[in-house]
Amino acid sequence: MSRSTFLLDGQSVPFDDGQMILEAARAAGRYIPHLCWHPDFPPHGSCKLCVVKVAGRHVSACATPARAGAEVESDTPEINTERRTLLQMLFVEGNHFCPACEKSGDCQLQAMAYDLEMTTPRFRHFFPDRPVDASHPEVLLDFNRCIYCELCVRASREQDGKAVFALTGRGINKKLAVNAESGRLADTDFAADDKAARICPVGVILKKRVGFAVPIGERTYDRAPLHEVALPKPEGDT
Ligand code: SF4
Ligand code: FES
Repeated sequence: MSRSTFLLDGQSVPFDDGQMILEAARAAGRYIPHLCWHPDFPPHGSCKLCVVKVAGRHVSACATPARAGAEVESDTPEINTERRTLLQMLFVEGNHFCPACEKSGDCQLQAMAYDLEMTTPRFRHFFPDRPVDASHPEVLLDFNRCIYCELCVRASREQDGKAVFALTGRGINKKLAVNAESGRLADTDFAADDKAARICPVGVILKKRVGFAVPIGERTYDRAPLHEVALPKPEGDT
């Protein structure tokens, strides 16, 4: 039985009923940038890096069902310029000072900036001053690098059964909070082997005492660019 197809940058991509554009593209070995989407969770739709153009309209590929015969534009100069702007906004809103960050080389935000050839921050930095939470014996939280993808919130709630994290506030006052009366990670049942401890795409949730352990040249995105690393491997993607 032949499956329906849509066109992604002029090339045919098969899909199953109900599959989103991003999922179908990944299954076909085609990368569409994404930061807040993760295969274990429903689409979140917050980062907008997966923006594509369908019939002249901008949509989020992670949350838009594939339709037979649709013509989807993704890897075009126009869309990639828009993605670069989104990245630049993320970089200036937080304190993403890669040379001093131990997630450098393993960070999806940084890897995407390399992939999309972002060369300047372009906008004025906000320089937020959010206190670091080092209360937990095993894990450090640097809230200044959060991109509000909510992956830790979802992983903690849905996979670890703990609900350690929450996003609170609105707009520019949005922040990641720890669900404890004290607001401290040490006062939760969070553990270093929780799914939520390993899911952060940037450098917020960091294991203590293992920083800078991987030599330069051997970190995840030293070896291959994000658009290759992010595609599903035969043994399953994380
Ligand atoms: S801490 Fe990491 S996983 Fe959690 S919302 Fe922020 S960027 Fe996403
Ligand atoms: S991956 Fe689609 S909005 Fe973030």
